[in-house]
Amino acid sequence: AIEKTFIMIKPDAVRDRKIGEIVTRIERSGLVIERMEMTTLDRPTVEEHYAHLADKPFFGGLCDFMTSGPVVKMIVSGPSAVAKMRTLMGATNPLDAAPGTIRGDFAVDVDANVIHGSDCVENGEIEIKRFFG
Ligand code: CMP
Repeated sequence: AIEKTFIMIKPDAVRDRKIGEIVTRIERSGLVIERMEMTTLDRPTVEEHYAHLADKPFFGGLCDFMTSGPVVKMIVSGPSAVAKMRTLMGATNPLDAAPGTIRGDFAVDVDANVIHGSDCVENGEIEIKRFFG
């Protein structure tokens, strides 16, 4: 089915000037970037996005990191867009991410792992509303 997913290039990758390479990989995959915007997130939005992790020891650091500089937020669509993007991104922990995946090639540690993608269609809808209104 044609799906939409919410994708975000995180502040580490923007700082490291990887926007172009990441966008190229998404476009080469055949998926379509429907919307894209560079913005710096405010803390309440980040805390809401990661609310399910509020009791984790890394929550504060994660929110600091995600507000530390601009991100590039996107709506990406196409056949099985959620799963396809998760394959392109690779495992959450860059230590487990295969070479050739975005995290495998560009990320070094789990605290700053370059890119976010929705984990299912339902969360994609919620995240698209949260970040694009
Ligand atoms: P993401 O998939 O965007 O959503 C949760 C994020 O928490 C994850 O990416 C990681 O960047 C971040 N994170 C930071 N530390 C950890 C950790 N120890 N285990 C899992 N996720 C972590």
